[in-house]
Amino acid sequence: MSVEKLNLLKKTRETIELGGGEKRIEKQHKSGKLTARERLNLLFDENTFVEVDAFVKHRCTNFGMEKQSAPGEGVVCGYGKVNGRLVYAYAQDFTVLGGSLGEMHAKKIVKVMDLAIKMGAPVVGLNDSGGARIQEAVDALAGYGGIFLKNTIASGVIPQISAIMGPCAGGAVYSPALTDFIYMVDQTSQMFITGPQVIKTVTGEEVSAEELGGASTHNTTSGVAHFIAQNDEDCINQIKELLSFLPSNNTEKTPLVETNDSPNAILDKLNTIIPDGSNKAYDMKDIIYEIIDENYFYEVQPFFAKNIITGFARINGESIGIIANQPNAMAGSLDINASDKAARFIRTCDAFNIPIISLVDVPGFLPGTEQEYGGIIRHGAKMLYAYSEATVPKITLITRKAYGGSYLAMCSKDLGSDIVLAWPTAEVAVMGPSGAANIVFKKEIKDAEDPAKMRAEKIEEYTNEFATPYKAAERGYIDDVIEPEVSRIRISDALDMLASKRESRPFKKHGNIPL
Ligand code: HXC
Repeated sequence: MSVEKLNLLKKTRETIELGGGEKRIEKQHKSGKLTARERLNLLFDENTFVEVDAFVKHRCTNFGMEKQSAPGEGVVCGYGKVNGRLVYAYAQDFTVLGGSLGEMHAKKIVKVMDLAIKMGAPVVGLNDSGGARIQEAVDALAGYGGIFLKNTIASGVIPQISAIMGPCAGGAVYSPALTDFIYMVDQTSQMFITGPQVIKTVTGEEVSAEELGGASTHNTTSGVAHFIAQNDEDCINQIKELLSFLPSNNTEKTPLVETNDSPNAILDKLNTIIPDGSNKAYDMKDIIYEIIDENYFYEVQPFFAKNIITGFARINGESIGIIANQPNAMAGSLDINASDKAARFIRTCDAFNIPIISLVDVPGFLPGTEQEYGGIIRHGAKMLYAYSEATVPKITLITRKAYGGSYLAMCSKDLGSDIVLAWPTAEVAVMGPSGAANIVFKKEIKDAEDPAKMRAEKIEEYTNEFATPYKAAERGYIDDVIEPEVSRIRISDALDMLASKRESRPFKKHGNIPL
């Protein structure tokens, strides 16, 4: 082959790899962001990234675009290994036309998604884009449509992880919203459908981009994002961590990770964790950390709806999903946001063959007009649906309160929990003792010489009789009442026993979860 041909290839590739050029790369760095290629280099194991479609060009001729070069079409796509496992990725290049998405840019993304679906491997999208490429008009919109369709087809088949690493507006936010997890980098990323300027024009409302759609807003208030990262490097490292808890696709199990923790550990600390007063708060995470391998819990949505905890951990090296009430926040009651957060996480675990452990201390659904008008019935139903629908191993441990509808919503026996365990401190009943006494013993209390004394007596009577695990255990709704110290032993034993679980349901096109 002639040297000229090889030189041409080398030169063309170098030009493409330089993206929008030195100046724009410098601007990207100055704004605290890495370039698309730097991000991909961090994501993939050394020398494993293989680029696809580097030579693709746009076909747009509007607004002088025929003279506009767009190296790599503003997105770098390919595949490689992350901790030795095959992963596909795309990284939008903000130095090229602001990472804006046109017809061919979209086609590149769809191509890696198609490969990922065929090969059964995760897709990681690193988003940094001004949205639809304005010059490409409806072709850009069609490009987004194709990606949304592919995201939906891939949903529940392969894990899809999105990182927001710059301003993402309009169409640029809906593809991430269709994926399983969203990371946002603090201070350098934003997500919104309509930006501050449009909002000001339409509603007169003034809001900064950060306040409107920054990482903090979406991790605490809207619940759109699942994780916040301090910078690009932290974001990529967290994505690798998350991938270690997930299988490559829905037909596989997550690879085991060796642990030094014994499955037979007696955990004395758990015997004293529940406070004496039934209404006293404690931190459910203290229980979680004790039970899991290496005290390592990767929490999902840690800053949103803190009254419920969701996240990944391992027991005996096996990846598990934990859903737990948090008595430290709103007494662990279930509200609209907690229901949405939990239901989504349950479905993610079920889609990807990850056993679900539910830790229960729930006083009920949060009462009030705000919740009722907001549709707590519809939102709470998502939890009932998600748990009932899940066919992965389901293990429930009741540590204290489990009242009424919320007892069912936290994966009771009847919703298909395979093993329900309870500590002796468990209180399983239709409602809490004081509310129940007021209703059941209304007449006795009213007619008593000293109603307050009678009420206290009746509350105690109800507490002793019903606010225990034993009534439920008598009926078989609880499989066993256990000493807290053996919780890890009993959960790991149950996981072992449930490893071969198979549960089939009647054929349907798809269910109709209340949305
Ligand atoms: C074409 C774009 C672009 C876009 C940015 N650029 N967005 N080019 N189409 N959508 C180009 C700029 O012209 C500029 O080119 C370069 O990218 C960097 O942009 P700057 O504005 O200089 O950067 P910055 O100040 O950091 O601001 C970034 C930004 C801003 C906040 C993203 O560019 C912006 O507001 N862009 C428009 C966002 C938007 O409204 N998108 C359309 C959404 S509608 P040069 O050559 O100067 O470097 C949509 C519909 C889809 O997406 C709906 C599907 C459901």
